Amino acid sequence: MVELTSSFKLDYEALDKDHERLADLVNEIVEAIDNEDGANCEELVVDFVKSAKSHFAKEEALLAKVGFPNVEKHHDHHKNLNTKMDHLIEFAKMAGENQMARDSLRKELVFFLMDDVITADMDFKSFIEEKSKT
Ligand SMILES: [Fe+2]
Ligand SMILES: [Fe+2]
Repeated sequence: MVELTSSFKLDYEALDKDHERLADLVNEIVEAIDNEDGANCEELVVDFVKSAKSHFAKEEALLAKVGFPNVEKHHDHHKNLNTKMDHLIEFAKMAGENQMARDSLRKELVFFLMDDVITADMDFKSFIEEKSKT
């Protein structure tokens, strides 16, 4: 089970809420994989991908608004995740009948969330912290 510890919090409510929602979805999907053999996880994965995309757009708009200097780099980072999201959906489609797809889906989802979505966001944490103080 994925849990967001306080060190991963940005102390910016709208983004933290999104991250929590994404983590909740990952946990739901992992549960569906473990308890129902993945038969029903496609809808959840599609929901996860939609939520991730709208979160990325919201985050980029905020970064542009506060004048974060590396907003382009972070945008590229999000863009690179598009291929991974396509893979997640492909795995989810096969999850009902394929153990390897279930294993890959579980692993890739947690990796996507922790390493790609949340760790990368630490790049702008102190910047928006400083901005919110002024
Ligand atoms: Fe984020
Ligand atoms: Fe991000």
